[in-house]
Amino acid sequence: MSSTTSIHGMWSSRLAFILAATGSAVGLGNIWRFPYTAGEFGGGAFVLVYLLCVAAIGIPIMMAEIMLGRRGRQSPINTMCTLAKREGATPAWQLLGWVGILAGFLILSFYSVIAGWTLAYVVQAGSGDFSGINADASAAFFGDLVGDPARLLTWHTLFMIMTVLVVARGVASGLEKAVQFLMPALFLLLLIMVIYAWQAGDFGAAWVYMFQPDFAKLEAHAGEAMLSAMGQAFFSLSLGMGAIMIYGSYLSSQASIGRNVVIIAGMDTLVALLAGMAIFPIVFANGLEPGSGPGLIFQTLPIAFGQMPGGSLFGTLFFVLLVFAAWTSGISLLEPMVAWLVESREFGRPLAAILAGIAVWLLGIACLLSLNLWSEFTVWGMGILDLFDYITANVLLPLGGVAIALFAGWVMHRQSSEQEFNLKPGSPFYLLWRLLIRYLAPISVILVFLDAVGFLDIIIEWI
Ligand code: PHE
Repeated sequence: MSSTTSIHGMWSSRLAFILAATGSAVGLGNIWRFPYTAGEFGGGAFVLVYLLCVAAIGIPIMMAEIMLGRRGRQSPINTMCTLAKREGATPAWQLLGWVGILAGFLILSFYSVIAGWTLAYVVQAGSGDFSGINADASAAFFGDLVGDPARLLTWHTLFMIMTVLVVARGVASGLEKAVQFLMPALFLLLLIMVIYAWQAGDFGAAWVYMFQPDFAKLEAHAGEAMLSAMGQAFFSLSLGMGAIMIYGSYLSSQASIGRNVVIIAGMDTLVALLAGMAIFPIVFANGLEPGSGPGLIFQTLPIAFGQMPGGSLFGTLFFVLLVFAAWTSGISLLEPMVAWLVESREFGRPLAAILAGIAVWLLGIACLLSLNLWSEFTVWGMGILDLFDYITANVLLPLGGVAIALFAGWVMHRQSSEQEFNLKPGSPFYLLWRLLIRYLAPISVILVFLDAVGFLDIIIEWI
C-alpha cells in the first residue's frame, strides 16, 4: 500500500496544491523566457508548436509526474527507487531522480541570476529611473546592470537567501499563504499591462506576429525551433526534474490529478501568452528587435513604464510580482534536493536548505560572471549562463520527461496507475492518458531530438 502522507508535510487543501504548483510553473519562464525565445524563432510558428507540446506532451507528463510523486511520497530519487522496486523493476530508475537534481541545480543557478535582475529593476522602477526613458537609454540601463558583477552578485545572493529561507521552513507552511494572493495579483497586473499595450503599443502587429504562424520563418532552422519550443514547454510547466513530482508527493490521495493538471497547465499557458501580448506591442511600437535575446523584457518594459501614467508605481509593482513569481518557482527548484538530503543524509531541513543553497549560489557566480568578466569563455558559442539554460531546457528536462513517461506508461502496472488516478477501470480519460503517455509523448520528444540533430533529414533522404 502506498503511504498517505509525506514526512515533509502535506498541502492543507486541493487549492493549496493548485496554487503551489501554479506558483512553480508560472515564473521567469513565462514572462522572461517565453517572449524572448518566441522572438528568436520568429513568433507564430514557434508559439503554435509550443502550444501543441503543452497539450500533447506536457499535460500527460505532468499527470504522470504528480501521480508518481503521490504514490512514492518521498524525494524524486527515493520515490523512483521505491516505486521501481514495488513494480518489480530495477532500482536504477532512481537515476531519473539524480538527473532531476542535476537539472534543478543548474537551472536554479542561472534562474537566481535572472531573478536578481528583476530585484534590481524593482529598485530602479521604484526610484523613478524609468520615467520618460527611450529605447536606447533602456538598453544602456540593462547593459550597465549585466556588466557589473558586484551588483549582479548582490541581487543573486539576496534571491538565494529568500529561496533558502522558505525551503528551510518547509514548503507547505512557508509557501501556501504567500501564493494565495500573489498569483491573482500578478495575473491582474499582467492584464493591465496587456490593456496598456493594446492602447499604446502596436497590438495589431503583435497579434499577427504571435498568432499567425509563418512557417517560412522556421525553414532555415526548423529542427532547432521545434526543440526550443518543446524545451520551453517543459521549462515553463516545471516538468522533467522532479519539482512537480515532489509537489505531488504532498498532495492528498483523494484529489483528482487530471482536473488539477488542466487548471495548472492552462494558467501557465495563459500567463505566457499574456506576457507576449504585453511585450510585443511595445517592441513593435518602438521599432525594437523581437529576437534581441534574454534582455528583451528588461529593455522593453521600462519604456512602457516610462511613458504610462503612474508608470513608476506600476513598474515597481510589476517587478515586485515578477520577483514573487520567480521566488515560488525557485523554491520548487530547490525542494527536491533538500527533501533528498533530509531523507537520506538525515540533516535537519534548515541545514539541508542552507547547504544546497550555498552550492547553487556558488554555481550562480559562474553564471553571472559569464555575462561580463568571463564573457570570452564559451562552449558551442554560448557563455555559461546560456549553456546551462540551453542544456537543461532542451536536453535534460525532455529526457527526464521521456523517462517519466516510459516508467508511468510501460513499467508501472496498469492497476497501479488506474488506482492512483482514482478513475474507474476503462474510463475514457484514463485510456486517453495511457495512449498519450505510452506512445505520443515519448515518441514526439524523441522525434524532436532526432530532428534537431539532423538525423531525420538523413533518414528521409535515405527513403
Ligand atoms: N517553470 C518555472 C518558470 O517558468 C521554472 C522551473 C523549471 C521551475 C523547472 C521548476 C522546475 O519560471
